[in-house]
Amino acid sequence: MHPVSTTRSASTARPAAADWWRQAVVYQIYPRSFADSDGDGIGDINGITSRVPYLASLGIDAVWLSPFYPSALADGGYDVDDYRDVDPVLGTLADFDELIGRLHAQQIKVIVDIVPNHTSNRHAWFREALAAPKGSPARDRYIFRDGLGPDGSRPPADWKSGFGGPAWARVPDGQWYLHLFTPQQPDLNWENREVRDDFLTTIRFWSDRGVDGFRVDVAHGLAKNMAEPLGALPDEKHMIDGTLPAGSHPLWDRDEVQDIYAGWRQVFNEYDPPRMAVAEAWVHPSRRPRYASPRGLGQAFSFDLLQADWNAGEYLRTITDNLSDAQRQGSSTTWVLSNHDVIRHPTRYGLPPKDDRTAQPARDWLLSNGTSPRLDRGLGLRRARAAILLVLALPGSAYLYQGEELGLPEIADIPENRRQDPVFTRSHGTEKGRDGCRVPLPWTQHGPSFGFGAGHAHLPQPGWFGSVSVEVQRQDPASTLSMYRQALSWRHKLQTGESMEWMPGTGDQVLHFARPGGWRSMTNFGPGPVPLPHGIVVVSSGPLDGHQLPADTTAWIRNGG
Ligand code: NOJ
Repeated sequence: MHPVSTTRSASTARPAAADWWRQAVVYQIYPRSFADSDGDGIGDINGITSRVPYLASLGIDAVWLSPFYPSALADGGYDVDDYRDVDPVLGTLADFDELIGRLHAQQIKVIVDIVPNHTSNRHAWFREALAAPKGSPARDRYIFRDGLGPDGSRPPADWKSGFGGPAWARVPDGQWYLHLFTPQQPDLNWENREVRDDFLTTIRFWSDRGVDGFRVDVAHGLAKNMAEPLGALPDEKHMIDGTLPAGSHPLWDRDEVQDIYAGWRQVFNEYDPPRMAVAEAWVHPSRRPRYASPRGLGQAFSFDLLQADWNAGEYLRTITDNLSDAQRQGSSTTWVLSNHDVIRHPTRYGLPPKDDRTAQPARDWLLSNGTSPRLDRGLGLRRARAAILLVLALPGSAYLYQGEELGLPEIADIPENRRQDPVFTRSHGTEKGRDGCRVPLPWTQHGPSFGFGAGHAHLPQPGWFGSVSVEVQRQDPASTLSMYRQALSWRHKLQTGESMEWMPGTGDQVLHFARPGGWRSMTNFGPGPVPLPHGIVVVSSGPLDGHQLPADTTAWIRNGG
């Protein structure tokens, strides 16, 4: 096969400080489930600080902290009461400053989550809005409308919220407010000047504290066309699959949203180095470059691999398309296999392929957190290891999710009365929700909550969790943790530039590509072994079979030998 893609050749071996994020490995921490320093069962800031040596030993370049702000946890912290404080259950601003100092001392950058589409219903603004009359400036910060029908008792439109149930909730004086997620997450009105200014204040607040970047939640949702009459909504799926004209949905991915980010960019660029941002935008891939534009947020998550099956063709197409998109937009590619919203990839890859699973589209399936009697855990882990080694060999930045370095599977059997995710409650249990990927990490083989903390973890951990703990894996050179460490250390040594070239042999079974500096990655998507090319294997995702690369295995090969 001919080389199919060569991306921008880069001139520098190490990115300049201003674009450190282009090739960064970013480790996502879900703070309430990472490490608990005070034994209350909930992970906290000091818990993260106590694990900075672990983070440094992993070899990551940055951490992304999911929300740690005061919150009633109606949506795992994505319901923010105050954007410029730390939840007292998790610590204080002084603890945060200590954490950031300790991470920076290890050359680890810090990205925080910013949640601009909605506040929580406990935010001072929303309380003010409820206390204020109809048509008041306090209500204008949100999206209030009168209801339909003679007594206004019907919602202003028949819209559904993302987590099930109606998207409008009624307040005591009879008006309704919009919430595209839970009722505890009222949507902000981004046409309101005060809303716009306040987020700039928040960005400066954290940037002044030394934060290096922001992950922007629901980045495609802020600009809305709320012109009356509010009609039926086109199906959001058609926006993502491209059957709806781009930018035409009243609620999602409207062109005007980029004006907001242009304003943010000015603030990011007030800092040296400029603050980075990465958009969480579930949009059609052709629209992603807008969010990743250097005039806007600068980078956007690609969720393509997170939705792809373990299949050479799907991976090849995804990688080729994403690299050429990134080149066009002047950004760098992002690779994501797991995050706090989806089924962990060792479980996804242990299930039958999508076509064979259910008739549901991939994302519905992911969110439904399905489990299957046909789950093959061993196969899933083998493929997960091969997948991450492939991803870490690619140009671009890789976003890892806490616990994937331990090969953790989705925890599917959380009892109903312990589930926390509103997806579970609002769907009346028809969707299990996202708790299964948010179970607190196992640090030690034994002990209360396997070293997570001194008390019981806020989500139940399975009895076997100790066997996959950091303590156990750190002593085993063949463990998933050891593989991540080796791979990240080699990546630091080998990675130069932002180009790659597909090698002959790449096709429907094998993906083989070369990076500048004389190293290659080869992945065998199965079913049988394939010969390894000439060279020295520096890391592999599983045991090799002489000079053969077994099925579901990736190896990195250096020239020479
Ligand atoms: C995306 C976040 O990743 C998810 O966890 C959250 O529920 C929604 N946005 C709403 O904020």
